Amino acid sequence: MNSNNLVLSVLNDLRNNYQGIGAFNFSTAEVLRGIVEEVIEEKYPVIVATSEHEANFLTLQVAAAMVDSWRKEFNWPIFLNLDHGHSLEIIKKAVLSGYDMVHFDGSTLSFGENIQKTKEVVDWVRGFEEREKKKIVVEGELGYLRGSSNIHREKMEISEEDLTKPEEAKEFIDRTGIDSLAIAIGNIHGIFIHSQQRLHLDRLREIKKIIGNQAFLVLHGGSGTPTEDLAGAVKDGITKFNFNTELRLAWSKITRQNFRDNPQEIVPYRLLLPVVEAIKKVVQEKVKILKGEYL
Ligand code: G3H
Ligand code: ZN
Repeated sequence: MNSNNLVLSVLNDLRNNYQGIGAFNFSTAEVLRGIVEEVIEEKYPVIVATSEHEANFLTLQVAAAMVDSWRKEFNWPIFLNLDHGHSLEIIKKAVLSGYDMVHFDGSTLSFGENIQKTKEVVDWVRGFEEREKKKIVVEGELGYLRGSSNIHREKMEISEEDLTKPEEAKEFIDRTGIDSLAIAIGNIHGIFIHSQQRLHLDRLREIKKIIGNQAFLVLHGGSGTPTEDLAGAVKDGITKFNFNTELRLAWSKITRQNFRDNPQEIVPYRLLLPVVEAIKKVVQEKVKILKGEYL
């Protein structure tokens, strides 16, 4: 297909180099600015993402226009992903609004239903690609991924049963034709103050062994995961790493503090500028891991 395949070549290059790419969520202009400024300083590609709720706040069209403006301004590989889309309808809207990647989350469905619904998404997207000559990366999800992108005080136990099974991962990719697969290997959404968020890298290696390069592997729930485990996942074959809660935490902490410390200040950009710096710090730390600097 004579399409815009930049996204695929970036993902392939990173996978071949045993490196990863961050998919950082945003729902405001200052968070997006922090992510973009940092990756440009780091000279590293990036995926920025909106969940359905985050996209509802901005609108899909506005999110796509914001990302496109940054991409043009710096001529930099910045890809926009719909994160945790739960219906074909929202996937269609995102693609038609200009998103480069879509994640269909059918992980709460039965194995069979998940395959069926994911395949419907893939079929529709492939038709769009053919007509528009534009590559869209489709991500499916398999395994029980718990939590939400928030701070959790309760304890969280993950059982062996929740983890993605290697043979099922292979069958899922074969039958749906997805480009990438989000797997459950001990990762959890959010930051759990009273639980360890350790990855089962042995399970990752088993999955990688069976699927090879048939699909890019994705790790959700990157926040709160020890650096050592993230670095291990980079080495063992995860290509896309999703981060949200740590950015939300940085945003809310600095914003609160700044509003408290400057009760007379009413100028939004003066109050929000320190947030850009806080976001950059989080992104910098993750990009270093993704580049393989901790291996
Ligand atoms: O889909 C988004 C990510 O999985 C975010 O997870 O909030 O734990 O970083 P996180
Ligand atoms: Zn996620």
